[in-house]
Amino acid sequence: MIQQKIRKAVFPAAGMGTRFLPATKSIPKEMLCLVDKPLIQYGVEEAVAAGCTEIIIVTGRDKAAMEDHFDSSPELEAALAAKGKQALLETVRSLSKLAKIVYTRQAEPLGLGHAILMAKELVGDEPFCVLLPDDIIDSTVPCMKQMVEAFEATQASILASEVIEGPAISNYGCLDCTPVAGNPRLMEVKRLVEKPKFEDAPSANAITGRYVLTPRIFQMIEGVKPGAGGELQLTDAIQALLQHEKVYGYRFEGTRHDAGDKLGFLKATVELALKRRDLGPAFREWLKNVPL
Ligand code: G1P
Repeated sequence: MIQQKIRKAVFPAAGMGTRFLPATKSIPKEMLCLVDKPLIQYGVEEAVAAGCTEIIIVTGRDKAAMEDHFDSSPELEAALAAKGKQALLETVRSLSKLAKIVYTRQAEPLGLGHAILMAKELVGDEPFCVLLPDDIIDSTVPCMKQMVEAFEATQASILASEVIEGPAISNYGCLDCTPVAGNPRLMEVKRLVEKPKFEDAPSANAITGRYVLTPRIFQMIEGVKPGAGGELQLTDAIQALLQHEKVYGYRFEGTRHDAGDKLGFLKATVELALKRRDLGPAFREWLKNVPL
């Protein structure tokens, strides 16, 4: 089998962001900032660190803010240069050089599987990454890089997974899987269920918003019927993929923050700010005096 290299990453970014209204009335949820960086940028940087050179963003509306963010900005760059703000100038310039970024549209919110299907022609016949921008993963080695390495070793689809104890598993796709000898992070997937009832969940292994998928997934998405929530579910398409190929769960190293949830967003803000060299020490001192 020819070893295929991962070059492309797909970002579904077409949600309405209703949980963050009114902030998301006129800007996409993916442009909300943790400290000083939009959610989508965390994901794009992670994909680039994993070796991706082409980023495909599936938007629903208001893609202008995202396009502008990753585009060059001559007026801003000239103003920063004139003021001698070299570090900021480099930060702004580097954004437009991160990767080739293309946009496609999901006209109707028909589910995660449907969003990924919108990228079919742009991805073509090669394995690719999927990153859900709400999931921010703070790790030593970027999570997607860990997963691309697992793909290189197995040449099979890889799903990020973490343990979610208790009824909260119903908010996730859930994996029924068995350990793989010799690699404590890898699990062979036997069955997948999207958002199971707690009592029906086959395990506490939840799918996290990072995937490496083989291109056959597109055929599978085209074949599935609407599932949980009446939506075309990526999880159901991966279940169908199991009839043709092996699929692995991957217990990544790192901490995931659910920035799609207000409390998760606040926690991520605090943890990421505390880790910042420029802000962390002063922020830690201030937090000590916050009346709790
Ligand atoms: C999606 C997937 C689900 C996965 C989750 C991870 O659900 O459908 O399988 O566990 O992302 O964040 P969503 O959160 O979009 O409802």
